[in-house]
Amino acid sequence: MVSTKLQALLNAQITNELGAEMQYLAMSFWFERENLHGMSTWFRNQAIEEHEHAMKIVSLMNEWDLPIELKSPPDPKTSFESAEEIFAGALEHEQKVTTQINDIFKLAREESAWHVEVAFQWFITEQVEEEVNARDNLARIQLVSNDTAALINFDRRLASAE
Ligand SMILES: [Fe+2]
Ligand SMILES: [Fe+2]
Repeated sequence: MVSTKLQALLNAQITNELGAEMQYLAMSFWFERENLHGMSTWFRNQAIEEHEHAMKIVSLMNEWDLPIELKSPPDPKTSFESAEEIFAGALEHEQKVTTQINDIFKLAREESAWHVEVAFQWFITEQVEEEVNARDNLARIQLVSNDTAALINFDRRLASAE
C-alpha cells in the first residue's frame, strides 16, 4: 500500500525533477551567451538527466498503478551575475533535491512500502553523485575564476564530462 501522502510526494517529485530540468536549461542558456560552451553543454546534459529522473518516476508510478497528477514547476531563475553563482546555485539545488528524495525514502520505510523504498535507493545513490559533481565544479570554478586560461581549460573539460 502507498498512502495518499506518499503518492503526493511522488507526484511532487516529478514536478521537482522537471523544475530541475528547467533550471539547468536556464543555466545552460546563460553560459551559451557568455561563450562558455563547455559549461553550457554540461548544464544541458544535466537537464536531460533531470528529465530522465522525472520519467523514471512516471514509469515507476505506472508500474505501481498510482495515478499521476502532473503539475508545472515554477519558472526557473534566468539572470545570474557570474559562473560561480550558477555553480553555487546548482549545488544548493542538488542538496534540496537530496532532501526531497530522502523524505520519500523515509516515508516509504515508515509505511513498509518496500517497493518504493527499493526503487528510491537508486535515487539516493544518484544524489550522492550529483552532489559530488556539483561540489567539485564549484570548487574548480572558485579556483579558476581569476585566471582566464584556466577558466577556458575548465570549460573545455566540462564539455565532455559525465
Ligand atoms: Fe534529479
Ligand atoms: Fe540532479
